[in-house]
Amino acid sequence: MTSSCAVLFVCLGNICRSPLAEAAFRQEAKKRGWDIKIDSAGLGGWHVGDPPDVRAIREAKKQNIDITHYRGRKVSTQDFTQFTHIVAMDNENLSRLRALSPQNSTAHIALLMDYVPNKAGQEIADPYYGNEKDFDRTWEQVHEGAIALADHLEKQS
Ligand code: 4NP
Repeated sequence: MTSSCAVLFVCLGNICRSPLAEAAFRQEAKKRGWDIKIDSAGLGGWHVGDPPDVRAIREAKKQNIDITHYRGRKVSTQDFTQFTHIVAMDNENLSRLRALSPQNSTAHIALLMDYVPNKAGQEIADPYYGNEKDFDRTWEQVHEGAIALADHLEKQS
């Protein structure tokens, strides 16, 4: 059942892509009336405790979503048993997640774009060194991915 799903979005810093993916998916889950566990985390530890990047905050605001209260955290071993789905933004995230995955992991690990028909294997490019246009593109991608993931979870239930 969708209500027993728990979804974790993962990128490198947990300040650009995964907070935007979390925001897009929270919005989609709310639309569908789901009350499920949703979070995001990073593989690097540089931004633990930090709010998202100001450009990600601005991008979310453009979509009428407030993410100023989100705080960065690192992926932990417990995440692999506490979340049913761990969703990576790019292939490097994916291989690092697989390497970190403990033997008792129960999480399904995949790329966000794997859920989008005809876009399996595609990455969400890191906008950290980019500009506003890159963040617009990130939003478009994570929004498309969030809807496709929600559709997938609904079909699974
Ligand atoms: P994110 O972008 O993985 O989408 O949050 C990055 C943010 C920070 C860094 C790298 C990527 N960093 O190296 O600090």
